[in-house]
Amino acid sequence: MWGICSRTLVGMAKSAARPPHLVRPVAAHRLPGRYLSHQGSLPSLPVPPLQQTCQRYLEALEPIMEPEELERSRGLVEGFGRRGGVGERLQRGLEERARSTDNWLSDWWVQVAYLDYRLPVVVHSSPGLVLPRMDFSDVEGQMRFAAKLITGVLDFKTMIDNESLPVEQQGGAPLCMHQYYQLFSSCRLPGLHQDSLLHHRGRGPAPTHITVVMNSQFFQVEVYGPDGAPLTEDQILVQLRGVRGASEEEEVEPVGILTSQHRDRWGGAYLELTRDETNRESVSAIQSSIFTVCLDGPTPAVAAERYRSAAAVQMLHGGGSRLNSGNRWFDKTLQFIVGVDGTCGANYEHAPAEGPPIVALIDHVVEYTRKPDTVQSVTGTAPPAPRRLHFNLTPEIRRSIAEAKEHLDALARDLDVEVVVFPHFGKNVPKRFRMSPDAFVQMSLQLAYYRMYGRCCSTYESASLRRFRLGRTDTVRSSSRASLSFVRAFDDPRKQDTEKLDLMDKAVKAHRSYTDMAVSGQAIDRHLLGLKLQALEEKLGVPELFTDPAFSRALHYQLSTSQVPSKADCVMCFGPVVPDGYGVCYNPMETHINLALSAFNACPDTQAGRLARAVETALLDMRTLLETTARAKL
Ligand code: COA
Repeated sequence: MWGICSRTLVGMAKSAARPPHLVRPVAAHRLPGRYLSHQGSLPSLPVPPLQQTCQRYLEALEPIMEPEELERSRGLVEGFGRRGGVGERLQRGLEERARSTDNWLSDWWVQVAYLDYRLPVVVHSSPGLVLPRMDFSDVEGQMRFAAKLITGVLDFKTMIDNESLPVEQQGGAPLCMHQYYQLFSSCRLPGLHQDSLLHHRGRGPAPTHITVVMNSQFFQVEVYGPDGAPLTEDQILVQLRGVRGASEEEEVEPVGILTSQHRDRWGGAYLELTRDETNRESVSAIQSSIFTVCLDGPTPAVAAERYRSAAAVQMLHGGGSRLNSGNRWFDKTLQFIVGVDGTCGANYEHAPAEGPPIVALIDHVVEYTRKPDTVQSVTGTAPPAPRRLHFNLTPEIRRSIAEAKEHLDALARDLDVEVVVFPHFGKNVPKRFRMSPDAFVQMSLQLAYYRMYGRCCSTYESASLRRFRLGRTDTVRSSSRASLSFVRAFDDPRKQDTEKLDLMDKAVKAHRSYTDMAVSGQAIDRHLLGLKLQALEEKLGVPELFTDPAFSRALHYQLSTSQVPSKADCVMCFGPVVPDGYGVCYNPMETHINLALSAFNACPDTQAGRLARAVETALLDMRTLLETTARAKL
């Protein structure tokens, strides 16, 4: 089982490995910051040295294994890595692969981490994004806001279309921008045993429509005029009002809920659905559309302090078949969600991109929606009215829809989500004490978990590999020898505060140093995956290292975490990746931290709210230690 940000696509990755725009020569006259001018100059993802990975893998096992279990694994790892052993042969294979591809990992990664993954994308793979509640509470306000949001997204898309999106940087290094160019007009396609990804960029005329879904009915809505210019906000508003009127004319089965099913089941239903020509056309209109906008019905009223948690549920799964879960096409890469009660956010299918590009797009849109309304001149002919996408449903498809509703409702009942705003401090406090804020939050999670369970668990934090061409993510393993010493000492009355502070400082530094190693392509997880896949490719059988129970333990992430920062005061959320684990996403702002935690109700040992309280307490306790002891030390 992979952590979050770890499931990808293959159909697309095969072409994505060498997209035509990457092999075009770099034009010297282009401004720096342009997509074309910099993609080709990014470094290739390195293959880390074998001995380094073997050594670091053993170190990663230490905090999560008993010493005697570790001995057996040590023997296996040493055997694997010894001179002339199978590891060396696989390493040579990987190095050869790295020489002959743009990125030795990306094709494989897309395949095994996303398209081969068969659990529903809902909760198990697709993140939700929660925006602060908007200040409207009726359908006219909903339409107006949605029209503005759509124009904001199209404004962002213009930068993609003319390849002028500024290149992002991390620690002074330029980042790969490829993911941005995969966001629009793309969609996941279900298969019987594996999925694929459809992307329309560069394939024939660019799509000029979006899909809007309201009352579980899908509409094709043109958003560009005949002159190729985006429609104005007012024109889009007229289109949306048309959708609303038409969606109230009839009641239909929520076909979209099929996309929430287990992938094999949906793959089978998809074959049945697309046997019919009308259905094929409707599905194709959704898949090729630039993005989807879900105009949701009301959600149950909750107390103010539960609002963000309830909104997160809407973004993750739509609240159930009686609420908005049928008002989705979960395979669509980008779904913007605008509820009639002001609940807004997004759900995105993870295969083409990680959270940061999605959040950058959202930041742009939020800023855009805050701009005062301008009077826009409208010329030329009116755009075509929204086109209802019809579906002819056989009894078999109706049965599949009923089954999908049941599954979705069970999944919705099982998901426990808690979104909290930690108001006491944000990045400011760790920075003041010259500590990495991300490492500080990660250590608070380690402390919280240890206090709850009396042990450490395998912990995944996504780290970006976008310094490299077509880079996605690797894993920062947050539980380390240093973090274990820190959490063990923290509540030990025999330890002096100065010693605790010292251990905290070491744990934070160890985490930051692992992060530096990961973002420079030297972490262990993707390398180990590569070695395993190379063994399969060379038909050598799976080396014992990978069938060792320690390896499964190392991949059983009871804490699957990710930092997704944003300018807007939003938070991303995702489900746990193992039945007895937690999903934790956080957005550390300067003076507060937004946290979204999830667990499954079916597991009696996990509770999102309990972990949330424990993290809040851990953050406060760590600050107190810093403020009292660090000051005393000075
Ligand atoms: N003293 C003072 N300030 C420090 C510091 C220290 N010792 N260490 C770091 N800082 C500052 C940084 O300069 C930075 O400042 P800024 O807010 O002005 O930019 C800030 O603290 C944040 O740094 P840090 O907390 O260390 O984390 P980071 O921003 O480097 O992020 C990762 C770490 C792992 C989250 C990031 O590298 C990454 O890979 N992000 C992508 C994750 C991803 O893809 N998620 C997808 C999920 S779908």
